[in-house]
Amino acid sequence: ASMTSKPVRNQSFAMINCDDISYFKKILGERGVVLEEEKLDDANTDWMRKFKGSSKLMLQPRSTQEVSQILDYCNSRRLAVVPQGGNTGLVGGSVPVFDEVLKEAAKLGEMSQLMLGACALFDTVHFMEVFLVLKHLDGLRDPLPSAKHNFYILIETTGSMESHDKEKLESFLLQSMENGLLNDGVLAQDVNQASSFWRIREGIPEALMKAGAVYKYDLSLPPEKMYNLVEEMRERLGTAANVVAYGHLGDGNLHLNISTRQYNDSILSKIEPFVYEWTSEQRGSISAEHGLGLMKANKIHYSKSAETVQLMAAIKKLLDPNGILNPYKVLPTSILSQSGV
Ligand code: MLT
Ligand code: ZN
Repeated sequence: ASMTSKPVRNQSFAMINCDDISYFKKILGERGVVLEEEKLDDANTDWMRKFKGSSKLMLQPRSTQEVSQILDYCNSRRLAVVPQGGNTGLVGGSVPVFDEVLKEAAKLGEMSQLMLGACALFDTVHFMEVFLVLKHLDGLRDPLPSAKHNFYILIETTGSMESHDKEKLESFLLQSMENGLLNDGVLAQDVNQASSFWRIREGIPEALMKAGAVYKYDLSLPPEKMYNLVEEMRERLGTAANVVAYGHLGDGNLHLNISTRQYNDSILSKIEPFVYEWTSEQRGSISAEHGLGLMKANKIHYSKSAETVQLMAAIKKLLDPNGILNPYKVLPTSILSQSGV
């Protein structure tokens, strides 16, 4: 049920042969070379089951030296490579499109995950749809059960003195309720309560998957404009779909998710290109945090000028002259073939 029309396989890439496999076994040992269909199946499919490749080989390097040996070899042989971490991507960026070699990056990625953890501190004002999550996931409790509200905001602060943080949040809550900004609010009393609030926010993508098919957009917009798009989309789609909005208020990141029973071209044609055009008119970005991946490789012009895209292609060509690294993603295939990548 892919939402993206597939590009054509680039025939300048070689196909894997027995000599390649022997070489990889020599440098990685038997256990670093995965050929089992079942394991490959998992890695060939993204977790939302929207994108599917047909890689025949996954490599599991354990050191940067092994990584560079693999890449050297793949480059000289013109074997395309897709690095994969947790395979939790949302735009088809981490699964092969055709028969690219998979390279498991999870065991090497610990350092850079660390960095993601630290960045997440800055991104702590979230807004969400509580009702949807409570309906589709078990074991969760509405922290504000007395009434159903349209908008929920989750705020987390990190400070060196817990009592001081609490005091500040309490007075913020009181003030905001007094001046009519908030109707209701609750403060987590301990780590367990805090994590149960987070479970609701983090459960949204999962709840949406359970609800049926979902068209996902990851947009960056001026916060005061975000809800206009949600309303316009609701008007366009009527009862055909449920338009759900959540995201990261702190960085103007709207996750516009359109939930339907099943994927359907007539609904898709009401969403796209409208959603991209609207975002472009507001000078927003069509990719806030999920990346362009395969899904939006041909949509980059809604957010970036032709010159910028050319420059990106030129940098890519400099670092990856044969274009073997994660092909068909991020940049339009037309630009890549023009610049000979
Ligand atoms: C999130 O903020 O929950 C993630 O980006 C996943 C998603 O957008 O569904
Ligand atoms: Zn997000």
